[in-house]
Amino acid sequence: RLNSGIVINGKTYLTDEWTNVRPGILSLVGRNLHKNSNHPIGILRELIESRFKNLGYTFYNDFDPVVSVHDNFDVLGFPEDHPGRSRSDTYYINKDLVLRTHTSAHEPFCFENCTTPGYFISGDVYRKDEIDRTHYPVFHQLEGGRLWSRESLGDLLVSQVESDISALPELDIIVEDDNPIFDAVQNPKQDHMSDLETKLITLHLKKTIEIMVDQVFNEAKKAALENGANVLNFKEPLRVRWLQDKFPWTTPSWQIEVWWNNSWLECCGCGIVKNEVLLKSGIENSIGWAFGIGLDRIAMLLFGIPDIRLFWSSDDRFKKQFTANQISVFKPYSKYPGSVRDISFWLPENTTEASALHENDLMEIVREIAGDLAESVKLIDEFVHPKTGKRSQCYRVNYQSMDRSLITEEVNALNEKVREALRSSYNIELR
Ligand code: PHE
Repeated sequence: RLNSGIVINGKTYLTDEWTNVRPGILSLVGRNLHKNSNHPIGILRELIESRFKNLGYTFYNDFDPVVSVHDNFDVLGFPEDHPGRSRSDTYYINKDLVLRTHTSAHEPFCFENCTTPGYFISGDVYRKDEIDRTHYPVFHQLEGGRLWSRESLGDLLVSQVESDISALPELDIIVEDDNPIFDAVQNPKQDHMSDLETKLITLHLKKTIEIMVDQVFNEAKKAALENGANVLNFKEPLRVRWLQDKFPWTTPSWQIEVWWNNSWLECCGCGIVKNEVLLKSGIENSIGWAFGIGLDRIAMLLFGIPDIRLFWSSDDRFKKQFTANQISVFKPYSKYPGSVRDISFWLPENTTEASALHENDLMEIVREIAGDLAESVKLIDEFVHPKTGKRSQCYRVNYQSMDRSLITEEVNALNEKVREALRSSYNIELR
């Protein structure tokens, strides 16, 4: 495939030995579900943005998902050996360009170019992953960031942040664990910031994310109440808690969790942006925060969508159920039976790390051949032969369409193709 060139959104890119994007994944680029006002992902994005309309933010929803390795990883301080950089995790167009793995790839651009104090970014992001009802190689993130400049505010910086905090609305939520103290070892504050600055930026950041969570989940509760669902439970105020977290480009960093359907739901990573990252973006003497939230899992909960593949369905029975600015609960139109096939094989002996069959690569082959007909793929058995020392694996694939019944011949043909692709790509011995 050397230098054959691939076209994405009308632009041609050279390929090389790093290229691992395939037609299946490329066909999803440009669908822009986050920009569709009548799609659950777009409805959720607009619901969140609407709450921040007059609070000093610019909304960017059109950044190209093709970004440089530099923007996606290097500038954000990802170490050279970070697993996220591997070809088993990330879609490379060539050695310099990837399909973005997170909207954080655009943070430096926004810090440098945004003319309001803050910004929001939404977009499709791409990661190789397992196949099941909550994982899909494309999902959506909403990113936010905000800066205060010491250059322009000088001594007034602290009072400006204080007044920005007091401008934020009161919320009806319970913060069970605020985890407010940065921890010198696990989650250190930055040397160039005072304790007071760190405390205030953190307060503004947490309050902003609490507003977002309040907006989303309290709207969802209202919708559920209107639909008569689970009324008792939904009348309690929303409960959230803060946990420490770690990201290469923020410190201190946190994660918020929301109590929803009787468990803690991981919601949004965030932190105070490292000064190095700001300096690399040409921003001197400023302090600020950033966060990133995944939209798909939350949309699945709010709209009662049982399988992430549905978001990509072009079936009117799905699409017609959603209207701009409304949270409605999805009514399944039908459930078509799945059809299970097991694929067992011996792995090649003496494989080097590089040529080993990574689970994500197996998933990728199934996706490429079966597309959205692959409902789930699970490793169900693994053993080492006591005499030969060879390793055997068995994966169970469930083929199932969201929109129609599959016939046995079709499933058999798909499964044969998957077996053949695995055999020819990875030198495995099928059993
Ligand atoms: N980009 C991070 C992720 O994908 C989320 C994040 C954004 C964390 C901004 C900190 C600051 O998980």
